[in-house]
Amino acid sequence: MEVLDEMIGASPAICAVFDLIRKVATTDMPVLLTGETGTGKEITAQAIHARSLRKDGPFIPINCGAIPENLLESELFGHERGAFTGAVNQKRGKLEAAAEGTLFLDEVGDLLPSLQVKLLRFLQEGTFERVGGQETLRVDARVIAATNVDLKAAIDQNRFREDLYYRLGVLHLHLPPLRERGEDALLMAMIFLKRAAAASHKVISGYTSEAISAMRAHPWPGNVRELSNRVRRAVVMAERQEITPHDLDFVSEERPTRDSLDSLRAAHRRIEVELLVRAISLHHGNLTRMARDLEVSRSTLYRKLRAYGLEKFVPPNTSSSAVTKTKRTRTTSPAVVGHA
Ligand SMILES: Nc1ncnc2c1ncn2[C@@H]1O[C@H](COP(=O)(O)OP(=O)(O)OP(=O)(O)O)[C@@H](O)[C@H]1O
Ligand SMILES: [Mg+2]
Repeated sequence: MEVLDEMIGASPAICAVFDLIRKVATTDMPVLLTGETGTGKEITAQAIHARSLRKDGPFIPINCGAIPENLLESELFGHERGAFTGAVNQKRGKLEAAAEGTLFLDEVGDLLPSLQVKLLRFLQEGTFERVGGQETLRVDARVIAATNVDLKAAIDQNRFREDLYYRLGVLHLHLPPLRERGEDALLMAMIFLKRAAAASHKVISGYTSEAISAMRAHPWPGNVRELSNRVRRAVVMAERQEITPHDLDFVSEERPTRDSLDSLRAAHRRIEVELLVRAISLHHGNLTRMARDLEVSRSTLYRKLRAYGLEKFVPPNTSSSAVTKTKRTRTTSPAVVGHA
C-alpha cells in the first residue's frame, strides 16, 4: 500500500496519479485536475501544494461554482472602496491572499467569460486589477484548477475559452473513478473504519463477508466521498463488532410481513435513528439547527440523541444549555459524521 500525504491507494491507476503529483509539485506551472465528484481533486491539490516549494505559504481554495456570479470577481480579485454599492472598504481577494502560496480554483468551468479573460491575463502576465481599481497589481501565486465537467464540451459550446484551457491544462491530472481502482475501495474502507471507530470509541473489528461483497459490487457513483460517508454512517449504526451491508446502507430494510406492536416500535426506532444521523451530518451536530429542522425542542432532541448514544456528535458549545445537568463523555469532533 502507498500513502501520499493523506491519500491512500495501491492500485496502478492511483499510483500513476501519485507519481504525477510528485512530478508536478516541484514546478510552478498551473495544474488542471479533472475527475468525477468525490474522486479527490481537492485533496490532490493540497498534496501538490504540500510537496511544493510553496508549502510554507497559504493554500487558498475558492469554489467558483458556489459563489454568486456578481460577487465572484470581487472574491477572487478584491475590490477598491466604493467600487460598487456596499463596497465601503477596500478588500483583498483570494488571489492576493494566496501570495507566495497556491490558489485552488475549484469548479473553474463555472467562471464567467469576463473572469476567464482576467484569469488568463493573470496566468500569462501575473497581473490584475481589483474591481474598481486603476492600479495594476502583481502577485506570486500558483494556480491549481479543478473541474468535474467536460471542459472540451464547454469549449465547443463557447462557454469556456480554449486559450485558457490550454494555459491551465499544460499539466493535466485525471483522478480515476473509484470503480476503476480495484481493491482500493476495500483498503480505504478498512482505514476509514479504523479512524471512525477510534473517534467514536466503538470497538469494531471489520466487515462481514457480505459487507465486503456488497462493497466490491457497488459502483461508487460518489467515489471516495461516498465511501467515507458510508463507513462513518456504518460505525454509528453498527450494533455488532462487524459492519454489515445494512450498516453501510446497502440493502433496503427487510420489512416484517406481519404487523405487530413490536415491529412498529422497531420501525419507529429505525426511522428516528436514520433522521438523527442525517441531521447530525447535515448540520455538523449543531443542536439548534437540528432541532429547528426536526421540529422538536433542543431538550427533546438531546434526550433522543442520548437514547441512541448519538449525543457525542454534538459539540459542547451548541449543546451546553440543553445539557447542563448531564455529565458528558469526551466529545468527538462533529467532523466524524458531519464533514462531507
Ligand atoms: N486517495 C484518497 N485517500 C484518502 N482519502 C481520500 C482520497 N481521495 C479522496 N479522499 C477523501 O474523499 C473526500 C472527497 O475528496 P475531495 O473533496 O478531494 O474530492 P473532489 O474530487 O474535490 O470532490 P468534488 O468534485 O465533489 O468537489 C475527502 O474527504 C477526501 O479527504
Ligand atoms: Mg472538490
